[in-house]
Amino acid sequence: MAKEHVQIFDTTLRDGEQVPGCKLDTESKLIIADRLDHLGVDVIEAGFPISSPGDFHSVESIAKLIKNATVCGLTRAVKKDIEVAADALKHAKRPRIHTGIGTSDSHIKYKFNATREQIIERAVAAVAYAKTFVEDVEFYAEDAGRTDNAFLAKVCEEVIKAGATVLNIPDTTGYCLPEEYGAKIKYLKENVTGIDKATLSCHCHNDLGLATANSIAGIMNGARQIECTINGIGERAGNTSLEEVVMIMRQHPDLHLDTNINTRLLYDTSRMVSERMGMVVQPNKAVVGANAFAHSSGIHQDGVIKNRETYEIMDPHDVGVTESAIVLTARSGRAALAYRAKNVGFELDKKQLDKVYTEFLKLADQKKEINDSDIPTLIEAANL
Ligand code: KIV
Ligand code: ZN
Repeated sequence: MAKEHVQIFDTTLRDGEQVPGCKLDTESKLIIADRLDHLGVDVIEAGFPISSPGDFHSVESIAKLIKNATVCGLTRAVKKDIEVAADALKHAKRPRIHTGIGTSDSHIKYKFNATREQIIERAVAAVAYAKTFVEDVEFYAEDAGRTDNAFLAKVCEEVIKAGATVLNIPDTTGYCLPEEYGAKIKYLKENVTGIDKATLSCHCHNDLGLATANSIAGIMNGARQIECTINGIGERAGNTSLEEVVMIMRQHPDLHLDTNINTRLLYDTSRMVSERMGMVVQPNKAVVGANAFAHSSGIHQDGVIKNRETYEIMDPHDVGVTESAIVLTARSGRAALAYRAKNVGFELDKKQLDKVYTEFLKLADQKKEINDSDIPTLIEAANL
């Protein structure tokens, strides 16, 4: 069965950059955009051009630089926003305008003080206007996660007629459960006339830790684009993490879904973005965290030394990590100590290992982690 392509829409430089405390200058944004292009993302959301002259300049510079990916700029459903975005994107090889409006009852009432009919009119007008500048127009139905499905379907139908090529269904508040979000995408697939003319896109936030699960539920129900960020950074608890969704598709061939991502660049890209943004990656972060391929309990270490697959479902090389780490702590066993000692040139027989292991436990109870440089001291302490 042939694999179907899922587009990776990276919004590190737009939704990701909205993180408090993170301010990237244009130079850093260009470096990150260039890396994303090499990584193989299909779309780079470069910014929100009307938001500031600096953001306009960054989007314009990225549009000039990028050779492969589509470059996208965000707008509200406002004429001036769309004109400014079109101007910032005018040098892009593949420009996309990303326009939209809130569609949940809460947004309609409190943000817009409008009616559902007025929201549809504004959505259609925005898409039609964006279409006068570029061919590729993505529409977002903000807070789609909490929008009534029948109304959402009506909005989608009308914006497709106005020329939208991609329909973004954001779970803006990270509220949906995976089943619910998947069912929403399925509902749109089955109830929107003209849906075959557009690509459905998942844009999930992580307020309840479900962004990745929801995005996967979305593609399992027919969406063919995922909006995500490196390291999952973004507003509040963040966005869907690029490295997680990409590796889920790669490690589950039964999904028959594929991306263009060169996964071997994932770890390096994660570090680079973390350093540029000044946002630390939590050690237990899936796929790219410092501990993602580190084993410290004796039982696990023994298994991994015998065969990596006993406790690893991914090959670290596939995400650009050179090797699994066998960490020496007071919870480690003899197999791990022998393995690490051998790596630094000490081949120990059973008796010698017993002696060194006694010394090792004494030191490991004092120190949190035993390093390669401690091993010769342990051997000396064991009188070998
Ligand atoms: O989360 C959201 O709804 C968004 C839109 C502006 C696309 O980021
Ligand atoms: Zn968002």
